[in-house]
Amino acid sequence: MISLKSVKKTFPGSTSRMGPAQTGGMEVLKGVSFELQPGERVSLLGPGGCGKSTVLKIAVGLISPDKTPAGEIPRGSVTLGNIDMFHGAKVDRRRVLRQVGMAFQQGALFDFMTVRENLLFAMENMTELTPAEMEKVLKGLLGGVKLGHTEGMFPYELSGGMQRRVGIARALATSPSIAIFDEPTAGLDPVTSTIILNMIHELGASRGDNPRTLLVATSNVEIAIRFADRVILMHEGVVIADGPWQELILHGSEWVRHFLSVRLIGLDLDYARGLNLPQEFLKAHWG
Ligand SMILES: Nc1ncnc2c1ncn2[C@@H]1O[C@H](COP(=O)(O)OP(=O)(O)O)[C@@H](O)[C@H]1O
Ligand SMILES: [Mg+2]
Repeated sequence: MISLKSVKKTFPGSTSRMGPAQTGGMEVLKGVSFELQPGERVSLLGPGGCGKSTVLKIAVGLISPDKTPAGEIPRGSVTLGNIDMFHGAKVDRRRVLRQVGMAFQQGALFDFMTVRENLLFAMENMTELTPAEMEKVLKGLLGGVKLGHTEGMFPYELSGGMQRRVGIARALATSPSIAIFDEPTAGLDPVTSTIILNMIHELGASRGDNPRTLLVATSNVEIAIRFADRVILMHEGVVIADGPWQELILHGSEWVRHFLSVRLIGLDLDYARGLNLPQEFLKAHWG
């Protein structure tokens, strides 16, 4: 459903915490490969700056991976719903993108539209819903992210976290078959984070015949493991581990085990038990 093969990305002359800028630019993705099957639910996890948002933007064709002068991705490819996002026909790419809902890290709402108009615009352009159905979805989703009162407000009147919640509601509004969320809970309080995770989960559960593919990018280990069994872990522009997190937390490389456990071992034992942590891990860290 989503497939990246050997994707590299160099930003011209950028500097980052990954190292000093090099002549010819900074390679922020150094050959990223992974594949999501239809209906799969996956967390893309890694520290800030490791390249998650860049991966997501490339997956939906918003930015281009490195190419040869002839326009080829060297030994690599990006496909979404079986469509090549960089060589496929424009009509095919448009068709597949109509099935995608993406919530960006920064909300990415239309500034000149109210919250209500932002959601309606997405539904009018990407769904066959009737006005009455749209109204119902709008009320349900805004209520869900606790923003019913903001319907008539413009993005500049909302805080960053509120804008992100509207962005999430908008991504869910079109009932997409591929839904992608970039840092959906960053900066939100635990209660709102849980509400948002549950809404994303419900989205996955509420589509019987046509399985929905869900991808959440986050730097928060707890969010990642609560969201999905399969975790793709990135570090400095590469996929450093990919698999069921219960396995990675016990048997991954030292860096992988450390990254996955360091945020969890300070948690209250009862709470940790609720996260389905492996028995062996609980014993090792809580005694
Ligand atoms: N448009 C850009 N121009 C230059 N550098 C960028 C750009 N976008 C991202 N970067 C750099 O690429 C690296 C990866 O960024 P990003 O994909 O946003 O990471 P993450 O989402 O994991 O925090 C960072 O060092 C960031 O500064
Ligand atoms: Mg990011």
